[in-house]
Amino acid sequence: MTTLITNIKELLQVRETSIAKVSGAEMAILPTIKNAFLVLKDNLIADFGSMDQLPKIHTDKTIDATGKIVLPSWCDSHTHIVYAGNREQEFVDRINGLTYEEIANRGGGILNSAKKLNETSEKELYDQSKVRLEEVMRLGTGAVEIKSGYGLTVEGELKMLRVIQRLAQNYPITIKATFLGAHAFPSEFKENHQGYIDLIINEMLPAIAEEKLAEFIDVFCETGYFTVAETQQIMKAGIKFGLKPKIHVNQFNSIGGIQVGIKQEALSVDHLEVMKPEDIEALKNTETMPVALPSCSYFLSIPYTPAREMIAAGLPMALATDYNPGSTPSGNMNFVVATACIKMKMTPEEAFNAATINGAYAMGISDTHGSITIGKKANLIITKPIPSYYQIPYAFGSNLIDTVLIEGEIFS
Ligand code: NIG
Ligand code: FE
Repeated sequence: MTTLITNIKELLQVRETSIAKVSGAEMAILPTIKNAFLVLKDNLIADFGSMDQLPKIHTDKTIDATGKIVLPSWCDSHTHIVYAGNREQEFVDRINGLTYEEIANRGGGILNSAKKLNETSEKELYDQSKVRLEEVMRLGTGAVEIKSGYGLTVEGELKMLRVIQRLAQNYPITIKATFLGAHAFPSEFKENHQGYIDLIINEMLPAIAEEKLAEFIDVFCETGYFTVAETQQIMKAGIKFGLKPKIHVNQFNSIGGIQVGIKQEALSVDHLEVMKPEDIEALKNTETMPVALPSCSYFLSIPYTPAREMIAAGLPMALATDYNPGSTPSGNMNFVVATACIKMKMTPEEAFNAATINGAYAMGISDTHGSITIGKKANLIITKPIPSYYQIPYAFGSNLIDTVLIEGEIFS
C-alpha cells in the first residue's frame, strides 16, 4: 500500500539521516521543506522531497495537503494514562486552598488513586484507559510511554502493566511500559519503607520480568516519597532485571536525585521544576534526557522547568504531558508545546524538537520515531490549513489537527 501526500505547505522535522537527539543551540533549528511531497509505503516513510522533484510512482492513495503542514506525530515520553476514576474532588480542594502536599498527607493523592485502582477490575481499567489512549491519538500522539504506579501492591501493579500490554497489542500506536511501583509508600508501609522496597525487589520485579511487562523502571525521588538512597537501591534492582531507569525528580525539591539518576545511566530525568546550578551542571555531557512537563506546572501552579538556562548550558530537552489524575489530567501534546513556548520561553522550533525527536529519545525509539526520515514509522500529523507552524503554539486553545496517520493509516 503506497500513500502519496502532495502539496504540503511545509514538511517539518525533516532529517535525511537518523539522529538520536538534539541539544543546546541545535534545538533552535527545525529543518523543513516547503511545498513538499511525502511517500508512505505500508507503515513506513518511503520518500520525501520538494514538489518540483515529485517522482512518477504508482500510488494506491493520494492525500492533497494544500495549505496544510505535516509533521511527525508527537512522542509523549511520560504518562500515567492507565488509572481508575479521577481526582476531581482534590482539584476543588486545591482551589479552596489546600496544597498538593497537604492533600497527599491526608491520604489523598497517589494513595487515593491506588485505592480506586485496586477496587477496579482489569477489564474496567482497560475500558477507562483506552478512552484516554484514543483521545491522545486523535490529538496527534504517535508514541507514548505509560507507567504503572497506582497499584502499589503486587496484584495492582501487575494489573496495570497487563492493561498497558493489552493496549499495546490492540492499538497501532507505539507504547512503552514503565514499572513505577516506587511511586509512593502504601500506608501500611509508612513506618516500614524497607518492607515495601523488599516487596518491589523480591516480588514485583521478578513477576514483571517473567511476563516481560516493562522496559523501564521509574521512582518518584522526592521529599516525603523515595529518598535518594532508596531511589538508587530500586534503580539498581531494576537494572538487574533488565529494566532501564527513568526518574521523577526535582518536582518540589532538589535533593540529589538527578545525580543518582545519571550515575545509574537513567534514560531520562523528568519534572525538573526546581533546578539548582549543580543539577544543570551534572546533566552536561551525559546520555540522560531532561524531560519537562509544563502541563503539570500549569495545573499545580508550581514553577516551570528552567528551559532557557538548561538549553543555554547545552543540554537537550524533551517535552511530555505527564497525563495522570492528580497533577495533570490532560494528555494534549499540542497544549504542552504551546505552554512550553508561552511559559518556558522555548521557541516554536525548540518545542517541536523537544516534543518529537527528543521525546522519542526519552523512550529509546529515536531510530524509528520522531522525524521525517526514510525508514521511520509513518506516524504523522496533517494540520488544518494554517498560516505557518507558529500557529500551533500561538493558537493554544484550538485544535488545528486535520488528520492523524499512525503506521501509515488514518486514525479517526
Ligand atoms: O508525575 N509526581 C509524581 N507522580 C505524578 C503524579 C501522581 C499523582 O498525583 O497521581 C506526576 O506528577
Ligand atoms: Fe509523572
